[in-house]
Amino acid sequence: IKSVGILTSGGDAPGMNAAIRAVTRAAIFNGMTAYGIYRGFKGLITDEIEEFKTNSVSNIIQQGGTILKTARSDEFLTTEGRQKAYDNMRKYGIDSLVVIGGDGSLTGAAVFANEFNIPIVGMPATIDNDLNGTDTTIGYDTALNTIMDAMDKIRDTATSHERLFFVEVMGRNCGFLALNSAIASGAEAAIIPEISIEKDQLGELIQQGFRKSKSSSMVLVTESEVTGGAIKLAERVKKEYPQYDVRVTILGHLQRGGTPTAQDRILASRMGVAAIQALQENQRNVMIGIHENEIDYVPFKRAIKKQKDISEEMLEVLRISSI
Ligand code: F6P
Repeated sequence: IKSVGILTSGGDAPGMNAAIRAVTRAAIFNGMTAYGIYRGFKGLITDEIEEFKTNSVSNIIQQGGTILKTARSDEFLTTEGRQKAYDNMRKYGIDSLVVIGGDGSLTGAAVFANEFNIPIVGMPATIDNDLNGTDTTIGYDTALNTIMDAMDKIRDTATSHERLFFVEVMGRNCGFLALNSAIASGAEAAIIPEISIEKDQLGELIQQGFRKSKSSSMVLVTESEVTGGAIKLAERVKKEYPQYDVRVTILGHLQRGGTPTAQDRILASRMGVAAIQALQENQRNVMIGIHENEIDYVPFKRAIKKQKDISEEMLEVLRISSI
């Protein structure tokens, strides 16, 4: 393998730039030519491709977002679109790809790899931490820290007014962000899609929180149809417990931005170097994972097959530490 195209796809995540930097430099270090592909698979179709040198990725490790931009491409979902993408790869002599993104991006990558027999290695980058076969994903730690910081601030005003706050966080259908930021910020509870919460349990939870003469209560809620989201939950609680002064905060896209934490920069750098090593070893159709602090090659099929299990231990830690 003599050359590699690098692209970021799907929702951006802090640490994507550190990943682009590591892949580019590892490729050049190994005598390969590196190409930056702009706007994900879309740019592969529309020929937004540029050769990257070592200094193309200077001064980006500390930046959030992605210098390569990101997009969702409907055309890539069609056979004709993928054919155009492949033709452009041939035009530049790009014989492999590193795809940095979440489950949607890796699903697209797997289809493309099989169709044209292209060596593709994936790197898990999403704040949701919802990819199977890796303990953590690039961007997740930064988002957790961003939420924790916001929670600390909301706690100040919640305590002053003795209020009950429902704070909605991202995660799509996954409760990792809500559960772990609840632990980190000392929240009273996390309402996550993986654990169904009956109406009465929610009531009990709230009453418990106040019974112990807490001066404020904070509940993290994952955005999701399953949880109903923070606004709906708050409406219900207001109706049933009019004695509580309820407020809602939806953190939204601020969770996706910001300078990546040291942990995300290091993870992205390790995974980037590993992605090029995987290509050199003739690995294909694998995602770079991290398990017990060791790099792993995870077949795409396993990475995107099913939702990652939420940790029972973490649920217990929140349950115990919030009494
Ligand atoms: O997958 C990352 C994520 O931020 C999810 O947590 C969220 O549901 C979704 O992307 C939001 O997507 P968009 O930026 O397209 O609104």
